[in-house]
Amino acid sequence: MTTIAVAGTGYVGLSLAVLLAQRNKVYAVDVVPEKIELLKRRMSPIADAEIEEYLAHENLDLTPTLDGRGAYELADIVVIATPTNYDPDKLFFDTSYVEQVIEVVLEVNPQATMIIKSTVPVGYTRSLVERYPHGRFLFSPEFLREGKALYDNLHPSRIIVGVPSNSSFADELADVAREFANLLAEGSLDDDTPVLIMRATEAEAVKLFANTYLALRVAYFNELDTYAALSGLDACQIIKGVGLDPRIGSHYNNPSFGYGGYCLPKDTKQLLANYRHMPQDLISAIVEANRTRKDFIAEEVAKRIAEIAYASGKVPTVGVYRLVMKSGSDNFRSSSVQGILRRLAEKGIPALVYEPTLEASEFYGNEVTHDLEYFKRRCDLVVANRWSEELDDISDKVFTRDLFRRD
Ligand SMILES: NC(=O)c1ccc[n+]([C@@H]2O[C@H](COP(=O)([O-])OP(=O)(O)OC[C@H]3O[C@@H](n4cnc5c(N)ncnc54)[C@H](O)[C@@H]3O)[C@@H](O)[C@H]2O)c1
Repeated sequence: MTTIAVAGTGYVGLSLAVLLAQRNKVYAVDVVPEKIELLKRRMSPIADAEIEEYLAHENLDLTPTLDGRGAYELADIVVIATPTNYDPDKLFFDTSYVEQVIEVVLEVNPQATMIIKSTVPVGYTRSLVERYPHGRFLFSPEFLREGKALYDNLHPSRIIVGVPSNSSFADELADVAREFANLLAEGSLDDDTPVLIMRATEAEAVKLFANTYLALRVAYFNELDTYAALSGLDACQIIKGVGLDPRIGSHYNNPSFGYGGYCLPKDTKQLLANYRHMPQDLISAIVEANRTRKDFIAEEVAKRIAEIAYASGKVPTVGVYRLVMKSGSDNFRSSSVQGILRRLAEKGIPALVYEPTLEASEFYGNEVTHDLEYFKRRCDLVVANRWSEELDDISDKVFTRDLFRRD
């Protein structure tokens, strides 16, 4: 049995900790006491059906702890799943939370293999080896979706582990990479998951290019929708017709206000920063297209408001239904609707926000309500990135581009 410490109990860390704790001894480390308290009571700090079910009913060898030092000391493997936020000034991910963990591990247990699951810039693991030549590092990209974090690890599309070729432990690390891939595969419910062992730098690139492709696809169908809306065409019909080509497919093609969430906005910008001094047009366009789409949506909303004001002779109340990115999500990190709110504020249009998960009574100067009936009564126009049955009775006042009513 392998002893594993997982640093960070967010979407990535917690799903991996639960998956691996079915057959290994796992310490789940975090710096937030409330999260560890919940986990000790076998409750999930994030909304995820499979994590909740496994914590409550499966036989897991899982020890949640705030004592990272103590956990890393006992571990054969330390999985690092701390945040890496994009820093627009440095044009790079802020990897300091990853390095905080690395420095403790090197102090208390330098023999342990550290497996980075956080998304990092291309070349990062190589640079770690230069900076900490005695450290044993692997990089394994994570492809899960929020809300389906454990599900996606129980049914992984692929398992990839990258070995830094500049490490003096490269041969030994290649063996640990295969062992780690086996641990992930063993914990999953599938038998035939493709496993790729490659260099760490290529593995880092896989993650950024995969997310940038997803952003490209969202941006593409959003621009199709912009074209259709401005030309008086039915975007639904066009998208259905386009998607039936099996090379394109009818999945992941539902228009929205823009791509958002924790990963796509930062990972696309990070990939663009990696292209510095290299020829490219498409990657910049994918980043830029998201701004253009939000500008267009905000313009459309402003137009509707002007029409309502003209017809009614009063200043209409605009509502924003939910700040979350997807229906069913439990956080609104970098959700695209926030970009719409900001643009409306710049045009001098305040909004009433309905967001039941937000405790504050104000969100960037906008009033927040938790009372859906009051929200529906007060609003003349409701802006919703994703449709919900809750809106059925006021459908005539809803502005959305959620054409297929799914994510
Ligand atoms: N969320 C996703 O869908 C997703 C998917 C693939 C990859 N990733 C990447 O994985 C990484 C983590 O993402 P996430 O969504 O799980 O983040 P998250 O914010 O949900 O969780 C990170 C956790 O790390 C904890 N933490 C911070 N510093 C710590 C430290 N020094 N020691 C221990 N714990 C610490 C935080 O308290 C938090 O609970 C990011 O790099 C992200 O880009 C995320």
